Amino acid sequence: MYHIALLPGDGIGPEVCAEARKVLDAVAQKFGHTFTYEEGLIGGAAYDEHGEHFPDSTKELMHNADAVLFGSVGGPVDQQDNPKWKDAERIAILGMRKELNLAINLRPATVYPQLTHLSPVKEEIIGEGVDLLVVRELIGGIYFGKHDTQGGVAVDEMTYTEEQIRRPLAFAFQAAQQRRKHLTLVDKANVLDCSRLWRKVAEEMRGEYSDVTLEYQYIDNAVMQIIRNPSQYDVIVTGNMFGDILSDASSVLPGSLGLMPSASLGDKVHLFEPIGGSAPDIAGQGIANPIAQILSAALLLRYSFEMEEEAQAIESAVQSVLASGVRTGDIARGDDQVLGTVEIGDAIVSAIAYD
Ligand code: IPM
Ligand code: MG
Repeated sequence: MYHIALLPGDGIGPEVCAEARKVLDAVAQKFGHTFTYEEGLIGGAAYDEHGEHFPDSTKELMHNADAVLFGSVGGPVDQQDNPKWKDAERIAILGMRKELNLAINLRPATVYPQLTHLSPVKEEIIGEGVDLLVVRELIGGIYFGKHDTQGGVAVDEMTYTEEQIRRPLAFAFQAAQQRRKHLTLVDKANVLDCSRLWRKVAEEMRGEYSDVTLEYQYIDNAVMQIIRNPSQYDVIVTGNMFGDILSDASSVLPGSLGLMPSASLGDKVHLFEPIGGSAPDIAGQGIANPIAQILSAALLLRYSFEMEEEAQAIESAVQSVLASGVRTGDIARGDDQVLGTVEIGDAIVSAIAYD
């Protein structure tokens, strides 16, 4: 029996989480597992109930779970002064990352060979498809440095210790060993001391992974290269802020943020979430793309429960549903059949059940 903390959060979170849960239940049924769920409040939803964005009850629920499936947090851009939304993302999302010590964030960008036409990038660039993995350091760097504004001066400090750098680097080297054996470290070493420290640690470690080729790229070049020539990448490893930027840039390749899952690995409990955010503009209309959330559930099975076959069952069901031309509006083209959130979830559930 496996226990999952479900934190749907705000915006489209509840709608897409409901579909991911349906899909997990289909997997449980097919493979003979039992998944139990406990729902917790986070973000604006928690504020309504408890007057805070990340209440202790939610922290406890996360620590007691075998894995956390998280939706999204945040309100409309024009309501950021409302206390319900003010700093909701910073408090809830960064709070969860710190609470579970989620040092390693995995953001795969995959363009499947039969789905290259969904990409807005030219076919000759996408080629046979794209399969890259961004490994982002998630609990250090400028996100967690001192933030301060006084007398017309604002400060955001960026700090990295060798120890903080070593962990994501080791993960990235090992991931590359199991993939195409190429690792790109993205940084700004022409300007930043932190970046130079990343390179120093990478140089110290590369001998242990001599079958992996290591390359360095600056962040400004990398955001361009990832669109112009994505197939040069296998695994990319980078710090917190550059990883944020680069993972959104890589989401252009599959065609929508609504297809991009992520895994954040902690000491004990891992967290899984789509990278796209709460999309308050389309919340509650039943049109959000649930695929990123569903693929995040697949990552949960892979990384928290070591259920590789089950994870692949979800991933191939998603591929076959997309290949059949059934989509949500964000990725629909031409003759595609546009379906709602629930119908896409149903289609993926049937693909799993009847595979
Ligand atoms: C992400 C988001 C977050 C980040 C925000 C909401 C704090 O953009 O997960 O990519 O910057 O890490
Ligand atoms: Mg981001």
